[in-house]
Formats: sequence, structure tokens, C-alpha cells
Amino acid sequence: MDSQAGLHILYPRAEIDSAVKRLASEITRDYHDKNPLLIGILKGSFMFLADLVRQLDFPLEIEFVRLSSYGSGQQTSGKVKVVQGLRTAVRGRHALVVEDIVDTGITVAFFMDYLKRKKAASSRLCALTDKPSRRRVPVEIDYTGLTVPDKFLVGYGLDCDEMYRNLPDICYLEE
Ligand code: IMP
Ligand code: MG
Repeated sequence: MDSQAGLHILYPRAEIDSAVKRLASEITRDYHDKNPLLIGILKGSFMFLADLVRQLDFPLEIEFVRLSSYGSGQQTSGKVKVVQGLRTAVRGRHALVVEDIVDTGITVAFFMDYLKRKKAASSRLCALTDKPSRRRVPVEIDYTGLTVPDKFLVGYGLDCDEMYRNLPDICYLEE
């Protein structure tokens, strides 16, 4: 994919795999006896969640929500919309939110607050990538895969206008 104009590999799949394995062992240590509810934020987390749960060999449940803070392209609208909400009660559950990237923090800050209001027994955040240079609201990430530079990333679930989610590597788009 590196041959495509403007697209460069930042984290090849082997590097992503070892980050996912490390996260899985941290999560196993903390959740193996808790039957957690893993909540993937769609669409970006689908590939990460699928790889992560295949490394988790203990009882757990999986849910998805679809949140949207981006109108289109690379700009956040600053407002979070629940496009598809939870279908499973979180009250009393150990919720682990699985996100592709924490950028401004607006999306996950909104959702972590929502879980608290719904009285989850605990709520933690696992993010494959963290882009701290862009943070606008404070967010505590409990499990971080890769700390990434201030570039617009695509691939491994991440999109730009819905394209590139299928790339197996995390790439950046040259402006
Ligand atoms: P935040 O609310 O600004 O933290 O952004 C959250 C959402 O924006 C993420 O779940 C992604 O879907 C999207 N996003 C943020 N940065 C990037 C990026 O570099 N590439 C692709 N999507 C991004
Ligand atoms: Mg997105």
C-alpha cells in the first residue's frame, strides 16, 4: 500500500500485533474473573476489537455503540452523536471501552461519562492509539497501545471519509 500516492506506513502489522498482545495480557490480568462487557466504538474499533478478543481466553461479552463526532474528512464537529446505542444493560457490569484512537478526547469523554451515569460497576478505556498532542478534554486511558504523532492516520479500522479502513497497517496520509 506504500506505493499509493500520499499513503505511508507508520506502524506495520507486526508492530500492531505486538501492541495488541501486550494489551491483551494487561486486560487478562485485570479482567479474567470479572466477565467484563467490552464495548467497541464503531466503526473505527472493529478490527482492533476483533484481534484483541481473540487473545482473551476468559468469559466476556461484546457490545458495540456507534458514536459520531466527525462530520466528514479530518475535522471534528465537537459534538458527539449517538448513532446506535447500547442494547445490553451496563448497570453493575465491568465495562471496558475499546476505541481505535483518542484524538481531542471529546468522543470517549462523552461515552465514559454516559457509562458512569448508567451505573456501571467499573468503566475503563482501552485505546489502540493515543494522539495526546491534540487533546481538548482530559481523558484517562487505562490501556494504551501506541502513542502516535500528530498525523491523520488511516488503516486497521481508521478511515478518511470512509476509505482505507481495510488496510492491515496503520498509515498516515501526507497532506
Ligand atoms: P476525538 O473525539 O477527537 O477523540 O476523536 C474520536 C474519533 O475521531 C475516533 O474514534 C476516530 O474515529 C476519529 N479520528 C480521530 N483522529 C483520527 C485519525 O487520525 N484518523 C482517523 N480517524 C480519526
Ligand atoms: Mg472515525
